[in-house]
Amino acid sequence: MALKIAMIGTGRIAENKLLPALSNTKDAVLWSVLSRDKARAGETAAKFGAQSSNAAHDNLDAMLADPELDAVMIATPDKLHSEQAIAAARAGKHVFCEKPMTTSLTEADAMIKACNEAGVKLGVAFHIRWHEGHRKLHQAVSDGLLGDLRHIRVQWSSLAPDDGNWRARTDVGKWWSLAGVGTHCLDQILWFMEPTCGEVVEIKSVISRDVWKGPNDETALISLRFASGATADLCSSVVFQAPTQFELYGSKGYARGEGSVGISGEGRMWTDKGDWDFNVIDPYQLEIEDFAAAVRDNRAPEVDGVMGRRNTAILLEATD
Ligand SMILES: NC(=O)c1ccc[n+]([C@@H]2O[C@H](COP(=O)([O-])OP(=O)(O)OC[C@H]3O[C@@H](n4cnc5c(N)ncnc54)[C@H](OP(=O)(O)O)[C@@H]3O)[C@@H](O)[C@H]2O)c1
Repeated sequence: MALKIAMIGTGRIAENKLLPALSNTKDAVLWSVLSRDKARAGETAAKFGAQSSNAAHDNLDAMLADPELDAVMIATPDKLHSEQAIAAARAGKHVFCEKPMTTSLTEADAMIKACNEAGVKLGVAFHIRWHEGHRKLHQAVSDGLLGDLRHIRVQWSSLAPDDGNWRARTDVGKWWSLAGVGTHCLDQILWFMEPTCGEVVEIKSVISRDVWKGPNDETALISLRFASGATADLCSSVVFQAPTQFELYGSKGYARGEGSVGISGEGRMWTDKGDWDFNVIDPYQLEIEDFAAAVRDNRAPEVDGVMGRRNTAILLEATD
């Protein structure tokens, strides 16, 4: 039976990516929607065909009291994730949470504990791993394509029109470029490097906030060293626009991507041996399919709460 999922939040990523992807996922359906505005919840529920006869909510506890609901998908500002996830877990609902999972380790630990105690799955939405070119490369690198990994570089910038976004504030946001795109770059780095290079043993950062002069990062540079001695460079920004960059260097070759780190599953990838071909498949659909399969098969989602916590821990160490 298809997993019945409630959408928490009706913003940009919910409307543009998660809900269209959920519509195409055969093992899961949109069941209900929570918004601060019940009319907006109703509009989103109708637009994406929510299946519950009581689909529109403006009260989280009331929505979670629905015995037919199986899981929630959280796409609200970052500082709201943990409270909503913990409420869902305590109501016995599986949790699929947008990135960054939390903005503190206390919240991350509480969220993991609540899900473990309730026996529900906790998945984190790092969709870059589901880009088919990245997945094929990840497998080839594990099989030795590039030899020993020595360095990785990931850059993603997205020009903000102004500082009106909640990520630029501290009430519900903590990081700006790092929360919007940098956390994805970090996930890509950890996913490729940790299996053979070990844990992160050194973190250095440069943070700039000089255009809008607010409290949160505008451009962030983070350098990492892994236990093997391999290194990583991350650049995220909201003050310039450019194609994303992905570079992976090993003792026997390199792989690169332009535009592959992004929201579409597209981009161009190549290695020192030639073009790197892949099919364009919606990475958001694949991450939801993995979450639904994790619930069905009673296994951890590919990106679980422990990985979400590790990502948050590095962001905290780089910025606090
Ligand atoms: N994986 C990805 O590619 C990706 C991309 C973008 C964002 N995200 C993540 O998804 C989450 C939402 O980001 P977004 O870009 O969709 O943000 P957004 O467009 O601002 O939407 C957030 C939604 O959360 C709800 N909300 C509840 N309390 C709120 C508050 N105090 N202030 C603002 N909104 C509030 C709102 O829905 P109602 O008005 O209906 O309550 C709002 O529309 C973030 O954690 C973000 O990092 C992920």
